[in-house]
Amino acid sequence: MNIHPMWENYPELATELATTLHLMEKRILLKNKDIETAILSMIHSGGKLLRPAYQLLFSQFGKNRNVEKATALAASIEMLHTATLIHDDIVDEADIRRGLPTIRSTFGNNTAVYAGDYLFVCCFKMLSNYSSSLKSIQLNSRSMEKILTGELGQMDSRYNLDMTVKEYIENVSGKTAELFALSCFVGAYESGTSERFAKNCGEIGSNIGIAFQIIDDILDYTQSSKTLGKPVLEDVRQGIYSLPLIYALQENPKELHPLLEKRESLTDDDIAEIYTLVHSSGGVIKAQNLAADYTNKALNAIEKLPKTKENTKQILLDITQTILTRTN
Ligand code: IPE
Ligand code: IPE
Ligand code: MG
Ligand code: MG
Repeated sequence: MNIHPMWENYPELATELATTLHLMEKRILLKNKDIETAILSMIHSGGKLLRPAYQLLFSQFGKNRNVEKATALAASIEMLHTATLIHDDIVDEADIRRGLPTIRSTFGNNTAVYAGDYLFVCCFKMLSNYSSSLKSIQLNSRSMEKILTGELGQMDSRYNLDMTVKEYIENVSGKTAELFALSCFVGAYESGTSERFAKNCGEIGSNIGIAFQIIDDILDYTQSSKTLGKPVLEDVRQGIYSLPLIYALQENPKELHPLLEKRESLTDDDIAEIYTLVHSSGGVIKAQNLAADYTNKALNAIEKLPKTKENTKQILLDITQTILTRTN
């Protein structure tokens, strides 16, 4: 099974990630072949597998690590992530993801809704088979609630010209960081660490997740759709104002307000002007600085983790630095 090239320097982790993908694939069994094909194509579309990777790495800190269980739990997290992406593309009306047509654009919204639902079901089936107690299932459902709350917070703030950095961070803490936090917590906890230790891992995951989403939002203003394999600047058209724009709005409301007040009728020229204003008002730089703050918090906390014989700490430091300085 081919996995994302970012893991090629970590052969043991890469092998476990390949197993994780294989476990996901084996679980997708449906009479409806459209939905089965749609999900399998998504599984094979080259996602980075960051959440299962963190989960597998944090599971190295427990005294009861078991590969079969760790990879099954990793598969359940990636299924949850995949489901949220499939549904996100419906809401965002996105036509490409990972450089390929989205499920909604190939098969239609109905199939995409069911495909996402099926993955939620698979996620919980897998989790209930492998987690050691009800705790992980309770946590998982609480995380799903927080993801949804973040998504709804984002939806409710659409076209809000006074959106604050605090509100943005709250939404991102739910919609993106929660799944990173869950991956790190469950990885540690289910391999037998104390709850206190696992909570610290969850906190690290949350900081990584917030930084990750800020970077993702910066890439919207610095990269092309071709490089990213997904649409750029669609957020603005849909009234979703992410961190670079929020900072720019604080700096230069006079020029940005009249443009943004056009809402759905923004032209390509307007979008180009917004893009320029976001850069010239320091929105991108400020967002980069805030992402660096969250990244450094995570890196400092990783430094303090105990040593393992698999060199887990170094790998965590490397990949955290890599994804948070990414350009695609
Ligand atoms: C995409 O996450 C959604 C965000 C939180 C920005 P990833 O960038 O981890 O998605 P894949 O799985 O690698 O495509
Ligand atoms: C990320 O949302 C998806 C979820 C966290 C559910 P976005 O809409 O910001 O991410 P991309 O840019 O489509 O990957
Ligand atoms: Mg989206
Ligand atoms: Mg979205």
